[in-house]
Amino acid sequence: MERVSQRKNRRSIENGPLLRRAPFLVSYWQGKQLYFENYLTRKKIAARLETAALLDFFSGWKRESAMFRRWPEYTPESLCAAARRLVKETFLQRAAKGEPREGRREKALRAWKNWNPAAGFFHLQTKDTYSKKISAREMRWVEELLQRDGVPAPSNSYGKAPVVGFVKEEYCEEFPRVLRTRKTWREFAKESVGKETLGRLLHLSFGVQEWEKIPGGGRYARKTSPSGGGLHPCEAYVVARNVDGIKRGIYHYDAIGHGLQKIRSGSSAAEIQNLLAGQWWFRDAAFVVFLTAVFVRTQWKYDYARAYRAVLAEAGHLCQTFCLTATWLGLAPFCTMALADTQIEKELKVDGISESVVYAMGAGSRVRG
Ligand SMILES: Cc1cc2nc3c(=O)[nH]c(=O)nc-3n(C[C@H](O)[C@H](O)[C@H](O)COP(=O)(O)O)c2cc1C
Repeated sequence: MERVSQRKNRRSIENGPLLRRAPFLVSYWQGKQLYFENYLTRKKIAARLETAALLDFFSGWKRESAMFRRWPEYTPESLCAAARRLVKETFLQRAAKGEPREGRREKALRAWKNWNPAAGFFHLQTKDTYSKKISAREMRWVEELLQRDGVPAPSNSYGKAPVVGFVKEEYCEEFPRVLRTRKTWREFAKESVGKETLGRLLHLSFGVQEWEKIPGGGRYARKTSPSGGGLHPCEAYVVARNVDGIKRGIYHYDAIGHGLQKIRSGSSAAEIQNLLAGQWWFRDAAFVVFLTAVFVRTQWKYDYARAYRAVLAEAGHLCQTFCLTATWLGLAPFCTMALADTQIEKELKVDGISESVVYAMGAGSRVRG
């Protein structure tokens, strides 16, 4: 009896599941503790060095039983328990039979190629870091900071170094006036913003202004903001709430055709507050624009992680152009990085990897005074 059951056991072990190391892992020490992170699933575990050996062993699909031969000094039960934990925490992938097809998100992140691990890790690790509600504690924390350290100086000073001075001008032209009156508004009047005003703002901020021929073939778009390689990775999505002539809803701005394409009907102040991670001071904005980045456009030419910085810088260019244009149009603009990333991406129907939200801005009518 004993022998039969052993044979049975062995057979089930030999036919056991296939395991493979998950593709997007990083590890590092923080203090004395070694950590492993799956930056696609955003799972993090504290582990010992033996875990690295186990993960390394499963570089390609292998039967679970293969590890019994590799580590005869450990019992199969303890090895299975370790593997089970790693499967549960998403560091090992498990297949009952045959090698499974790659998941959608996995495929999208694999397309980042040499941007991984640095940019992929940073991108996914820094997502969804805001809670939906801003606690009184958070608000107090800023006051505490102010009292404890004071505000850091906004410019370096080189002490007694010789100075080349400039005359401080009183500018009276339109352009410097717009530059100097831009500010972040956190209160909005009830009056709606006109459709044509929104159209001008979108066109001057995000629209293609003209096409340039590329000598070797093809063409590239010119916008009012610069873009690395003229590739323009950013897309603009409008949440319209109080725009005269445009039904409430979420729209994609077609930067080439200059129009809005409806993605979904309906929007509300509460939804804006939620998508902006609980910032109630923006809830009455007439509209919000979410900027996403289609990373593959930049990746097409720039095959290295540093280019991720360029994408973020470009979002900054677009946002500043938006804020200045909105100021010129007499609106009350704002921008924010406090976003409910995954929720926004769900509403925009983008996957958060090939295309992901990177910045938000919006505006409303100005309150008097
Ligand atoms: C990258 C970035 C992120 C910001 N995020 C927020 C934010 O989450 N919430 C907010 O109320 N303001 C946000 N602001 C606005 C700043 O608080 C504001 O620019 C700053 O207080 C200076 O005021 P001013 O814009 O009126 O000159 C952000 C600005 C930038 C450039």
